[in-house]
Amino acid sequence: MTDSELVERTVAFVRDTLKGAEGGHDWFHTQRVFRNTLQIAREEPVDLLVVSLAALLHDIADAKFHNGDETAGPKKADAFLKTLPVADSVRKHVVQIVRHISFKNSLEKGQGFESAELHVVRDADRLDALGAIGIARAFNYGGFKNRPLYDPDIPPRTDLTKEAYKKSDGPTLNHFYEKLLLLKDRMHTATGKELAEQRHAFLLQYLEQFYDEWNGRR
Ligand code: ADP
Ligand code: NI
Repeated sequence: MTDSELVERTVAFVRDTLKGAEGGHDWFHTQRVFRNTLQIAREEPVDLLVVSLAALLHDIADAKFHNGDETAGPKKADAFLKTLPVADSVRKHVVQIVRHISFKNSLEKGQGFESAELHVVRDADRLDALGAIGIARAFNYGGFKNRPLYDPDIPPRTDLTKEAYKKSDGPTLNHFYEKLLLLKDRMHTATGKELAEQRHAFLLQYLEQFYDEWNGRR
């Protein structure tokens, strides 16, 4: 089977599995991350099959929607890859990426796995949390959790540990400070950084307008 056939099969599996998923973590999120991945990978010396499969499988079973089970995603990716004729080394690398990609796991000290391929897919995923799409996803997630948009009496908490981040149930605007605005300084690749800078600037502009409208200044 050619690499592009392997990718096609994976696309079909992921589309089918993510049917009905929450709007910020659905197939279209995966599709955008896949496109970002291909764009970033053009400038990086990485294994294209590994980054492609990892981008497609990275949110196949998000722990947030599996009772916090963080092994659900890697297990599901592993089981699926075993049905494809891919080398063990490729399968294992993809599963490691799925296991280590998330922001909250990266808050854990000494999490222990890094590769150029992980960096490309992680940057691609982070870009989708920034800019216009990132804002839409944040409010969609906040709505899903029935959280207030903003509450001036509840300040954001920075320097959250992984556990505190997971428990954080503040207003959605706080999420900008707890995660989104931190991302641009945590990008790994040159292309990722460049794209993140633009999307970060858009977030700042958005926040300014938000506060102005909130305070009746515009
Ligand atoms: P990761 O999988 O890297 O830990 P998340 O699953 O936390 O990342 O984030 C996925 C999407 O959901 C992102 O767009 C993120 O901004 C959004 N999101 C996560 N937590 C919150 C929150 N508390 N409030 C608003 N949006 C959130
Ligand atoms: Ni994702």
